[in-house]
Amino acid sequence: MKRLTVPAIQRRKVDGRTAEPLVMLTAYTARQAQLLDPHCDMLLVGDSLGQVIYGLPSTLPVTLDMMIAHGAAVVRGSYHSVVIVDMPFGSYEASPQQAFASASRILAETGAAGVKLEGGEAMADTITFLSQRGIPVMAHIGLTPQAVNALGGYGARGKSEAEHAKIVGDARAVASAGAFAMVVEGVMEELADIITDAVAVPVIGIGASARCDGQVLVAEDMLGMFERTPRFVKRYGAMAETISDAAARYAADVRSRAFPTADQVYRPKK
Ligand code: KIV
Ligand code: NA
Repeated sequence: MKRLTVPAIQRRKVDGRTAEPLVMLTAYTARQAQLLDPHCDMLLVGDSLGQVIYGLPSTLPVTLDMMIAHGAAVVRGSYHSVVIVDMPFGSYEASPQQAFASASRILAETGAAGVKLEGGEAMADTITFLSQRGIPVMAHIGLTPQAVNALGGYGARGKSEAEHAKIVGDARAVASAGAFAMVVEGVMEELADIITDAVAVPVIGIGASARCDGQVLVAEDMLGMFERTPRFVKRYGAMAETISDAAARYAADVRSRAFPTADQVYRPKK
């Protein structure tokens, strides 16, 4: 199977709509990527790995080196999906030049096809700078977790009229700046619908609307790794139970000497 490309993803939206929604999941490791890849159009190496696999309190402490290490693993583990890597907090906001230095490292050192960065209108110049220099950019608007300190939490956005208008403006700004697609996270459903209709590039929703051009979830959330997940997560697996149950049975077997058995030890051939 030949790997999909950024232009192929972009072309999926024709005359303002995407006939078949785009499928995107996060992946952080090679084996996880292998398993998810055949089912997806895009894999996102999200900076959510800060909380999900490093146990950090937010995405803010995630570094460029962490993103590059996991991005390279996901590229090695996938053959079909377009791999997009999140630009971590502090690696792109200062200037288009800073963003280019970080994004070019991501593409060169991971083999990913593009980067994702948070922010709307304020990031438009940076999006243009990168896209004109061969770096496909996926924008991320609405609830932008790297701005948690400014937003005051992870609640849904776009409830007030002013915020609604600001987010529609962000969508238009990043699209005209050259973003090949955008994630719209944690907004009122109606706002996600308006954005999906307003821009020509694919709009990928998370906590957004069924009418978006595609959907993304954190894989561990939809796999049921956690007890508590946000409202917008639907569980398709029970990985937490599977892992706890396997660990409990292994521990019991070790303690009772039921493991290892003759099948799992080396003996001289007779
Ligand atoms: O980091 C991440 O996983 C993301 C998605 C939730 C869109 O940015
Ligand atoms: Na992210």
